[in-house]
Amino acid sequence: EESKSIVISEDPALPAASASKINGLSQYRGQRVKVYGWVHRLRRQGKNMMFVVLRDGTGYLQCILSDNLCKTYEALLLTTESSVRIFGTLKEVPEGKSAPGGHELDADYWEIVGRSPAGGVDNVLNVESNSDVMYQNRHLWIRGENMSKILKVRHATIKAFRDHYYDRDYVEVTPPTMVQCQVEGGSTLFKFDYFGEEAYLTQSSQLYLETCIPALGNVYCIAQSYRAESSHTRRHLSEFTHIEGELPFITFDQLLEALEDLVCDTAQRIMDSKYGQLVLDLHPEFKVPQRPFKRMDYREAIAYCKEHDIKKEDGTYFEFGDDIPEAPERKMTDMIGEPILLCRFPKAMKAFYMQPDLADPIVTESVDLLLPNVGEIIGGSMRIYDEKELYAGFKREGISPDNYYWYVDQRKYGTTPHGGYGLGLERYLMWLLNSNNVRETCLYPRTADRCKP
Ligand code: 4AD
Repeated sequence: EESKSIVISEDPALPAASASKINGLSQYRGQRVKVYGWVHRLRRQGKNMMFVVLRDGTGYLQCILSDNLCKTYEALLLTTESSVRIFGTLKEVPEGKSAPGGHELDADYWEIVGRSPAGGVDNVLNVESNSDVMYQNRHLWIRGENMSKILKVRHATIKAFRDHYYDRDYVEVTPPTMVQCQVEGGSTLFKFDYFGEEAYLTQSSQLYLETCIPALGNVYCIAQSYRAESSHTRRHLSEFTHIEGELPFITFDQLLEALEDLVCDTAQRIMDSKYGQLVLDLHPEFKVPQRPFKRMDYREAIAYCKEHDIKKEDGTYFEFGDDIPEAPERKMTDMIGEPILLCRFPKAMKAFYMQPDLADPIVTESVDLLLPNVGEIIGGSMRIYDEKELYAGFKREGISPDNYYWYVDQRKYGTTPHGGYGLGLERYLMWLLNSNNVRETCLYPRTADRCKP
């Protein structure tokens, strides 16, 4: 009761405190600072000492609150995830002890900014929580160490892609995501009413990128794509971040080389950045893959599955023309254990726009990049560049060409061989971080059973 009446105040005789984020504190060793953040961890030692690990997004800082500082009403009620302001002198940790940054804050004054309920977040989320509870509380879960590391690596990854493209003179464009054309088949389209007309959330920005190459040369975009996927797998989302590139005047082999370059160069950039250590924290064995990647035709994959007893769900072997679904594809990828450029899928199982292989027209100049632990992370192809062939493609897939006049015009006004690809950012991160679910590498995952928070 008595302790509740203890009130503290800042001593005006102390030197003014410099404000700093946690990651910038080193320059203030031995000086008085003020730091703002959230109580990440809290430990009381007897009545006269309290250790707070403070978190501000840039790092963690050990703070020592002693004597009256840990006896106030706010101190007695303090819980993890409360936000606070702490003033004190930054001291090097004593010999033989360790703390983040190699220093700790010896507090002389502190204030609560926003309280957190009794028990902190542990009452909502703890080691016993099942995945449904975790995702329901994703907004709190992301405050944890692992999740915030993943989000930081995601940030570094997006920058690595932009830097990769910038250095290779690709131009970034921002296509619309409300569209009236399908790209990857009608079964996964999200439809909505657009002022009385039927419209969709885009499945891919590819068609728009194709229209940009005569204006800008090599182009790319980083945009959200949407798929009404009812499949519950480790790697399907209904909204994902799609990194797509499109290149004029290339051959299929050059497309494959562009994919190797994309994956290896971006991974190298991330590892060389200040976030490389976070990748190793989460995935200690990660290594930037070697080029060239193994190339394998779809026909060879069918044969590989037969030879290695990888079967369809119904127990029979895959035949030419069958889609190789996720599980067997993973099995093959993990058996081979290195990146695979899986090429030349049959025309009948692929999208309307894919260029046939002139040497073997029943297959297309198409490619999936398969990586260990994930399977497919990239899908790409050469595009049909002849107007009549494109109409035949629409017909085969039962698509009315009316809404595609602008896409067809691409073939009328100076057509050229060209190709491109789409890479799923969440799947790339799954590979980079050895994560077992694409929902983990996404801020607020959208799946068939969840559209919140
Ligand atoms: O293979 P997809 O469907 O290819 C396209 O959309 C092409 N139009 C892209 C292009 O050529 N510009 O998708 C490309 C990649 C996949 O390899 C995968 O990484 C990701 O996008 N992706 C998904 N990621 C998470 N959840 C889903 N439902 C995804 N669907 C595709």
